[in-house]
Amino acid sequence: MKKLILLPWTLLWISCSSSIQPDPIDHDEHSFARPEEVVVTHLDLDIEVNFTKKELTGKASLSIKNKKNFRQLHLDTRGLAIHKVTIGKEEKSTAFQLGNPVRYLGQELIIDIEPSTDLVNVYYSTGAEADALQWLEPAQTADKKHPFLFTQSQAILARTWVPCQDSPGIRMTYSARVKCPTELWAVMSAENDTVKNDEGIYTFKMTNPIPAYLLALAVGDLKFQSLGQRSGVYTEPSVLGRAAYELADTEKMIEAAEKLYGPYRWGRYDLIVLPPSFPFGGMENPRLTFATPTILAGDRSLVSLVAHELAHSWSGNLVTNATWNDFWLNEGFTCYFERRIDEAVFGKEFAEMEAKLGEHDLLEQIKEFGPDSADTRLWLNLHGRNPDDAGSDIAYDKGYSFLRLIEEKVGRDRFDQFLKKYFNTFAFQSMTTKKFIAYLREELIQGDLELEKKIRIDEWAYQTGLPDNCPKPQSDAFTNVEEQVRSWMTGKPAKELMSTNWSTPEWRHFLRSLPATMKKTQMDELDAAFKFSKSGNSEIIFEWLNHVIVNKYEAGYPQLETFLTSMGRRKFLKPLYQKLAETQDGLQMAKKIYAKARPMYHAVSTSTIDEILKWKA
Ligand code: BES
Ligand code: ZN
Repeated sequence: MKKLILLPWTLLWISCSSSIQPDPIDHDEHSFARPEEVVVTHLDLDIEVNFTKKELTGKASLSIKNKKNFRQLHLDTRGLAIHKVTIGKEEKSTAFQLGNPVRYLGQELIIDIEPSTDLVNVYYSTGAEADALQWLEPAQTADKKHPFLFTQSQAILARTWVPCQDSPGIRMTYSARVKCPTELWAVMSAENDTVKNDEGIYTFKMTNPIPAYLLALAVGDLKFQSLGQRSGVYTEPSVLGRAAYELADTEKMIEAAEKLYGPYRWGRYDLIVLPPSFPFGGMENPRLTFATPTILAGDRSLVSLVAHELAHSWSGNLVTNATWNDFWLNEGFTCYFERRIDEAVFGKEFAEMEAKLGEHDLLEQIKEFGPDSADTRLWLNLHGRNPDDAGSDIAYDKGYSFLRLIEEKVGRDRFDQFLKKYFNTFAFQSMTTKKFIAYLREELIQGDLELEKKIRIDEWAYQTGLPDNCPKPQSDAFTNVEEQVRSWMTGKPAKELMSTNWSTPEWRHFLRSLPATMKKTQMDELDAAFKFSKSGNSEIIFEWLNHVIVNKYEAGYPQLETFLTSMGRRKFLKPLYQKLAETQDGLQMAKKIYAKARPMYHAVSTSTIDEILKWKA
């Protein structure tokens, strides 16, 4: 019976996808690990943080499970100096070898083990090319008094600070002991103390199994403030008040998330607001989201970033993309979940505006890649590529649109039940695109051919471009914004536009809807009316600066330089430097600014900008 039901789907599968459907590779080609032979189940880290040498030194003890008398353990490393390796509690020394360095993948570390070995101790130090680590001078922090260190392990940078099986398909629990200068405080993506101690020794425990890309550490002059029963924020003392104000809705978001897709399984949810060079908006390190200070707008208008990182506690941290080819399973699901939290906490109008902004990003991204580009598919083929260079808005916004489409076709209740069950069924497991689609068909489509035809699953997952059944978010507020732009363009003075009480998404949309090229007098008028050059909101400044560059609006150059030299968030840097690089004058200016700013940026950002400006470090 089951086979008969399956048949039409199989035919559909073959008919839509015979030529375009790549053979999904479940194997993670971005890791040297061989989990099918020997798998690491627990990491115990004992490290010292040396700010003078800009080095972590210590020991990683890995508990392993040998699947069948294998005699070698294969780990990922990059730039690590391996001092010695021992096996067992008794620390019997053992032979190891480092493979040849492979670009961005690093070096395979092969360790001799015995069939009965259950513990491997690696003594090591990090190297100068530890791209996960950013060592900040006091001048690069908010308070300018103490140095700061933070890590960024996603996608394949954990191996630059811990020898490990650095694949999202492999999970381990971890414990750690971190020694740092006594005036500083160390926190990790684990159970943290909420008070600083005087010894400079901190211990951590993560009892849920996680993939290596969620290993995280930050060390600095930190203070903590509670935000609610199970949430709080760490940051530098002078930022704490602002951060706590901005993040006041965190507890509400956790509650909204739980109501949607089941209990939050990680205990506490804290955030750390990092110095401005943090290359991302946020990073979903378990129990401790890492966040950029550029979300501190002063009016809580950019906190959907918290909804996003929090949502990853289900989509990503609980059910994890098995390989980076399946990245959309992390980010697309998270964007969908994020907007559902937005809707629950801030209302439908706000969530729809966010969805419209995402739709715009998606269309722009497809335009940039070209609709036939393989990078517009949800399932990616990152063969031979660095996953850290290949992330794009496709995973986020095409992923979001796909899930929204399913929701629209089956109804919200059914879809919510499905998602809740999905997160529970596959909790603490990894997921491939193929496996998700099989589960979707089994649980939700259930042989309904009409539904199959309405959704067109394989086209969404495996084909390029945007299917024509893509849902279209609707926002009356944005329609009004567009009307105001039209009025202005047909002669109505800017200061008379109906823009009172506009929220941040409306301003962003307004700026995005302005004509691509404008005269100096028009830019002057807009700025006089709306004070974009004085804005303290990073998203608004960013949109405005795009116009400053394209229109060579010289009055905006000081602000442009200030923005580019005061934060290192790649999402802002990349498009601005790209736009600058389009003209000769712009390129000159970009290089001048970059020379000043580059020492402040994180390796994640410099690797992107170096390429745009053809910069030789
Ligand atoms: N996990 C990502 C950040 C990431 C992706 C780091 C790929 C390394 C490789 C994080 O959850 C994220 O998506 N951050 C966004 C914020 C968001 C609100 C879309 C960012 O940093 O802009
Ligand atoms: Zn994300």
